[in-house]
Amino acid sequence: MSANQFNQQRIDIRKKMREMRKSLSTSEQKRAADDLIINFLQVAKVTEGTQVGGYLANDGEPSLSPIFEDLWAKKAVPNLPIIHPFSRTHLLFQRYEENSPMSTNRYGILEPKLNCSHVCPVAQLDYILTPLVAFDSQGNRLGMGGGYYDRTLAQIPADRSQRPLLIGIAHQCQEVAQLPVASWDVPLDYIVTPKTIYRPGAQ
Ligand SMILES: Nc1ncnc2c1ncn2[C@@H]1O[C@H](COP(=O)(O)OP(=O)(O)OP(=O)(O)O)[C@@H](O)[C@H]1O
Ligand SMILES: [Mg+2]
Repeated sequence: MSANQFNQQRIDIRKKMREMRKSLSTSEQKRAADDLIINFLQVAKVTEGTQVGGYLANDGEPSLSPIFEDLWAKKAVPNLPIIHPFSRTHLLFQRYEENSPMSTNRYGILEPKLNCSHVCPVAQLDYILTPLVAFDSQGNRLGMGGGYYDRTLAQIPADRSQRPLLIGIAHQCQEVAQLPVASWDVPLDYIVTPKTIYRPGAQ
């Protein structure tokens, strides 16, 4: 396959999958969020102090609101990504509280206002729940095309016990048989949808 064909395939999958998830109704989204937490809790061990990187749903992504509520109730710590203030192609993760001051980033997505004392170094997160546009059952992930997660996760250790577990979060309809994978795409340890738990990296 030529580089052009490869890029075009990724563009076509992104377009189709974004349209599909954006066409889900409010009640389908609510049901997805309620089912998602059940599967998430099968994968993650959440106790007091557990550090979890998440996201605020955008563009039809599944909402993590029930998961955030559960984390707060268990005195675990949800964190949200912030575009890094100096290295603007990377993400920082910062503690997210119900009353965290927020601002809108360049993509129109809410993020916590930078507060250095609330930043959690990426390697210290126990879990990172990544949004994605498409996935396959082998753990490959296609994002929105910015490379933010790939760059941020490129430096974490290979040993699973020394790094956050990467859990892709998606609607079931975002699965494809096989994604065109780039050398820099960071694979996922798990993918959790409202219907299925995929464990491609299980050892
Ligand atoms: N580790 C890296 N170092 C430098 N550039 C990178 C790295 N990872 C990805 N990129 C660059 O980012 C661009 C977008 O990557 P890609 O198409 O995989 O985005 P994505 O996975 O869809 O986005 P995201 O990671 O934000 O969800 C690529 O052109 C690539 O050159
Ligand atoms: Mg990628």
